[in-house]
Amino acid sequence: MSPLIAPSILSADFARLGDEVRAIDAAGADWIHVDVMDGHFVPNLTIGPGVVKALRPHTAKPLDVHLMIAPVDPFLEAFAEAGADHITVHPEAGPHIHRTVQAIKALGKQAGVSLNPGTPAKMLDYLIDDIDLVLVMSVNPGFGGQSFIASQLRKIEAVRKMIDKTGRSIRLEVDGGIDRETARQCVAAGADVLVAGTATFRGGSERYAANIAALKELG
Ligand code: DX5
Ligand code: ZN
Repeated sequence: MSPLIAPSILSADFARLGDEVRAIDAAGADWIHVDVMDGHFVPNLTIGPGVVKALRPHTAKPLDVHLMIAPVDPFLEAFAEAGADHITVHPEAGPHIHRTVQAIKALGKQAGVSLNPGTPAKMLDYLIDDIDLVLVMSVNPGFGGQSFIASQLRKIEAVRKMIDKTGRSIRLEVDGGIDRETARQCVAAGADVLVAGTATFRGGSERYAANIAALKELG
């Protein structure tokens, strides 16, 4: 089955973000993945809700907002109002992940939980019935262009089993180090959405459609 592709705009030209979002939309992106980093939860700084709001008119595709910030609860409403469709959070980013998930749902948004490479699938045991999306990190969060951590394939398999047991349509997304080979491995392990920064944006805008198509074909 062909995975959905969510290009991460972390690898885009930040001086031309609106154009870049239009270009990946036209090139076949299914979701637009937006990495929000605070220089504290992760060792890098990116963008805030103002940029999400500015990008909203540039695409009708879902804005898949990945929050790597702590504390996260005080910012949920701002990202919801800015036009995020999915809001994904890390359990380590606040004291009460269950409450954070409920807060995202109360804002009318799809709730995602992200597992760092060192975080076990078990973390989802008492959350899985309430969430819409699981984001398995296949690199430590903070930067694009890192190498895929192969041990995460077992976690993807474990999460796939948990999702299937619920009987609900929960998305299983993988983030970090996705290329043609790791895309194939992730889909074989049970992923249905792949985040791709480097692999989407390499080669410039005339390559975006071919880059996205290549990841879908191999899935
Ligand atoms: C890392 C981010 C990723 C990153 C992926 O913290 O969450 O979304 O941009 O970049 P690539 O695809 O280059 O590994
Ligand atoms: Zn991400």
